[in-house]
Amino acid sequence: MAVLKRFRRGTKNSKPLRPDADGVTYRPLEPLDDRVTGWRTVIEDDRQRTMYDRVAASVDREAYAALQERYRDEVEANDQFHFTKYLDLAPWFMIHSRLARLLDIDTRPACSILDIGAGGGQFLAIAQCYGHDVTAFDQSHPAVYGDLMKLFGIDRVEGGVRYGEPLPDGIGRYDLVVINGQIFDTRLDRTRWDLTEWASFLEYLCAEHINAPGNLFIGLNKSVGPTETEDYLWRLIEWGAAHGASVERNRATMDLKFDTPPTFDDVPHVPWLSLADDSTKAAQKAST
Ligand SMILES: C[S@@+](CC[C@H](N)C(=O)[O-])C[C@H]1O[C@@H](n2cnc3c(N)ncnc32)[C@H](O)[C@@H]1O
Repeated sequence: MAVLKRFRRGTKNSKPLRPDADGVTYRPLEPLDDRVTGWRTVIEDDRQRTMYDRVAASVDREAYAALQERYRDEVEANDQFHFTKYLDLAPWFMIHSRLARLLDIDTRPACSILDIGAGGGQFLAIAQCYGHDVTAFDQSHPAVYGDLMKLFGIDRVEGGVRYGEPLPDGIGRYDLVVINGQIFDTRLDRTRWDLTEWASFLEYLCAEHINAPGNLFIGLNKSVGPTETEDYLWRLIEWGAAHGASVERNRATMDLKFDTPPTFDDVPHVPWLSLADDSTKAAQKAST
């Protein structure tokens, strides 16, 4: 028994420590390969690990090191949660290879993908490695997002979701639209959208920007509301579950595949493009 106990202890102790075991998740200035090796150890799923390895191998080391130097001062002047956290590719490759696994990015036929609020582009970088035609849609600020897209060679449309307004002209239609960790769902007074506004937006998005048959993925964010303690909008996840989406209730995600664009007939709402009055539109324009 004592031998068994020692063996168990030994096995446990020999497991490499998580790279964030000391409480620091992001280290954007450390060598990429060290970070990739460290974060690889937390991945338990084989398909996820294969996607992680492939995207990590695809990064141009020289260009990445140059980017680290360009942002050195900004990283050193801020805490680890500043926007420059996205420069630390490995933890994001780990997180987004999980999402890629969920969406069968490695096995689905090549398709077109739009990521709304794409951030550092790590999810799209994985999808691109598997032959998908990827586009990022995001705000022009902060610059690090655009620089990471250039590193990955990903096309990016600059702009944002604006309450009651169409997406930019010419953004096009996609087979899969991904919204992960959104923070655009706020009104001008910084209160968050309710299900009615999501209904307006998603009905518009699916009809105008997703091919049918098509696929919409949403991974909700608690994020920025006026109290900073807003919960996930569970009503949206429940709506998805009731309409055939695969949902993860522990993470507030929904993956909706459809043959014809979904309508939200069971949710009282108005068409997205009639949601904002002229004063709201003018105020949005002034604030961007
Ligand atoms: C929490 S980050 C999530 C980034 C990325 N999707 C991920 O999962 O790592 C939120 C993203 O939304 C973007 N964003 C902020 N306002 C937006 C808007 N109005 N429309 C579209 N994207 C927006 C931010 O620039 C940022 O890239």
